[in-house]
Amino acid sequence: MSQNNIQNSLFLSAAFSEKTERPPVWMMRQAGRFMPEYWEIKNKYSFLEMCKTPEIAADVTMLPVDLLGIDAAILFSDILVTAEAMGGELSFTQGVGPRFANPVRNQSHVDALLTDVDDRLQYVADAIKVIQQRLNGSIPLIGFAGAPFTVMSYLVEGGSSKDFKLTKLLIHNHPELAHQLLAKIAKVTIDYLNLQIAAGVNAVQLFDSWALALSWDDYTEFSHNYNKEIISKLNRKDIPVISFCKGSSVFAPLMADAQPDVISVDWNADLLDIKKKLPAGIAVQGNLDPHILYADKKVIKERIHRLFERMRGENGFIFNLGHGIMPDIPFDNVKYAIEVVKEYRY
Ligand code: CP3
Repeated sequence: MSQNNIQNSLFLSAAFSEKTERPPVWMMRQAGRFMPEYWEIKNKYSFLEMCKTPEIAADVTMLPVDLLGIDAAILFSDILVTAEAMGGELSFTQGVGPRFANPVRNQSHVDALLTDVDDRLQYVADAIKVIQQRLNGSIPLIGFAGAPFTVMSYLVEGGSSKDFKLTKLLIHNHPELAHQLLAKIAKVTIDYLNLQIAAGVNAVQLFDSWALALSWDDYTEFSHNYNKEIISKLNRKDIPVISFCKGSSVFAPLMADAQPDVISVDWNADLLDIKKKLPAGIAVQGNLDPHILYADKKVIKERIHRLFERMRGENGFIFNLGHGIMPDIPFDNVKYAIEVVKEYRY
């Protein structure tokens, strides 16, 4: 699908810092558990079955397109599929989250990880093709991958973590081993994002969700350098690259050094302040606190309008949340927020 054939190009225009009549909108985790329609599918299949069956992944990707009218779709998958393809024994359990049965903690564990895994991720390329047929040029499709530091944290901890104790011990006591592991994940991530681009996504987002856990020096050495390498090796041409991390309020200057087209900003920062400090040509995405979507509708509207008034006159602004939608946010509030955005004019 050539970018020029897309009917609603608001998202791509804003991603390339061009003027738009209103901010485009999509939401991280827009295809998920806050939707009753998601549960109808989820009750029949495991999460990984959903990701690995192209028709089902396409069905779920299309839910927010059909029910919410967002300006960009995001591939239904997970950041941990790269780690699984490398040899991680991944499972998702309700209420527990992701688990790796074989955590990566020593040299032989790192050596055992595979790095030529395009074949094992072919199901994602297949899903992208089905989704693009369904979208039929209506809106752009965003592909994504996890950034090496965040993916490493799941492999090392064996699942989700509050304090990243084992991951930090690895980078502090055994930095060379950490670098070997990060380099392997980075190689797979470059191949994987280029596979998605070849299959037809119109934009890609790199998720470094847990970078917030790191100091400035550790972020530079163990996260930023790999993200920069990945971004520099993507077959970008007309494909905008979005860089997301929780911690972007602090790390935005370093994120800009990796030269993405868009930086996705957490909700702690004043978005205009971040934008003004970035080099021209880097757009921002964000940054409503997702908890606002629990609040009364008049609060939702007031906070969205407050953000838009602040960003008035700025090219290169995509409306999103500072992090993903929580599973128990009322569907009706998400729908209302999207209506508020779509009715707005600068
Ligand atoms: O945004 C979307 O709608 C597209 C799909 C998507 C999922 N995960 C689906 C999913 C995307 C972009 C992700 C990214 C992801 N996955 C991140 C980065 C974004 C972020 O939130 O910081 C991370 C850290 C993960 C890892 C992950 N996957 C966790 C921690 C969990 C369990 C806890 C949780 O929040 O659900 C998952 C499972 C997951 N990924 C679900 C979905 C819809 C829930 C699966 C279920 O139905 O049980």
